[in-house]
Amino acid sequence: MSLLSSIVPIFVVFSLFQHQFIPQIRAFDVSQQFLQIAKSDEVFEWMIGIRRRIHEHPELGYEEFETSRLIRDELDKLGIRYEFPVAVTGVVGFIGSGEPPFVAIRADMDALLMQEMVEWEHKSKVPGKMHACGHDAHVTMLLGAAKILKDHSHLLKGTVVLVFQPAEEGGGGAIQVVDSGVLENVKAIFGLHVSPALPLGQVSSRSGTLLAGSGFFEAVITGKGGHAAIPQHSIDPILAASNVVVSLQHLVSREADPLDSQVVTVAKFQGGGAFNVIPDSVTIGGTFRAFSKESFMQLKQRIEEVIIGQATVQRCNATVEFSSKDKPFFPATINDNKLHEFFQNVAGNILGPTNVKTMLPLMGSEDFSVYQEVIPGYFYFLGMKAESNKKPASVHSPFFEVNEDILPFGAAMHASLVVNYLTELQGSETRSEKHHDEL
Ligand SMILES: *[C@@H]1O[C@H](CO)[C@@H](O)[C@H](O)[C@H]1NC(C)=O
Repeated sequence: MSLLSSIVPIFVVFSLFQHQFIPQIRAFDVSQQFLQIAKSDEVFEWMIGIRRRIHEHPELGYEEFETSRLIRDELDKLGIRYEFPVAVTGVVGFIGSGEPPFVAIRADMDALLMQEMVEWEHKSKVPGKMHACGHDAHVTMLLGAAKILKDHSHLLKGTVVLVFQPAEEGGGGAIQVVDSGVLENVKAIFGLHVSPALPLGQVSSRSGTLLAGSGFFEAVITGKGGHAAIPQHSIDPILAASNVVVSLQHLVSREADPLDSQVVTVAKFQGGGAFNVIPDSVTIGGTFRAFSKESFMQLKQRIEEVIIGQATVQRCNATVEFSSKDKPFFPATINDNKLHEFFQNVAGNILGPTNVKTMLPLMGSEDFSVYQEVIPGYFYFLGMKAESNKKPASVHSPFFEVNEDILPFGAAMHASLVVNYLTELQGSETRSEKHHDEL
């Protein structure tokens, strides 16, 4: 006998002095109960089992076939309707009335091309692939929310859309989900990311710009190969490419406004193979980041000009390519201002207001931003740092570890956000109708 039957809806008295129809939270204050349910042995152990199964079988973007199957199996067991396939391996579930309004919660599914170095019972069984970004926990927490929400579907004043998205790590899975049309009519979308640095039980985010927009570039710098001891007969692409790398540093240090954060990093430099041969060409590649579209497009243009111009100075030719279909540009992650207020209220109810932190923007990027271009959205970080864990490995490290104690927090946060959102939306619509009547 669990807490499932003991939830009592608490109704709010709307302020008489309210002139605007900005939703004021408080309707069904079930958040605390959701956390208790998510922490119960039954739900917690079920989530741990799922997370470990996914962790043992990491799959790359658009190849999440087993992960997708696992998600569908669990949704079937829970009696939750879903659409499949969405964006190749993606799954989109529906809980509630099936009628509008719709509100979405999203988890990404893909793993990374890297070898896990953590020795433990449930280490990745696929050589060279690892869930080093916590997407195994993200999927699990969304399933946890699904279970809680299914048991409380009578509280849903509309429909919750569960978005299990493939290919977040550069593959543009969110673009394909949006293009599939499955999110049409969705009023808001929420997403989270585990944070190894933030203490367990805390969340952190901000209003407005949270993460940078990101793009990739690759350039081939072509010279003329030859004997390394007779350089005058060659056109050395290694030296030319080295000058290109140095020149690219000036874009941020000399051309960008110091108060408008930007990054240009050359992370790939390939050319040559022998000690005594000048190669024909060198390939360089990297990433660039900016918060505004303007700065982003300016960087893109200047990266191309600098590479080609600097190569020419060294008598080389260069071709530059930017993000292609399998590596698209991501816009900046920009949180909706009203959802920020809403989020702080809901998170404060679950975790206590002191555990709801505000952070500075980060230069990292997230394809959640693609949703935010078409739907008001909110993205936040969820802490998992244990007290004893002094300096945990960061995401994308082969030593990255998920503290499984985070799972109930994520499930409860997801579930509470959408229940409260739909309830408030109904409240604000009722209020605005009433307002019209009064007119
Ligand atoms: C660069 O391109 C021009 C025009 O196609 C060509 O004449 C020249 O040989 C090229 N130089 C190198 C180093 O490849």
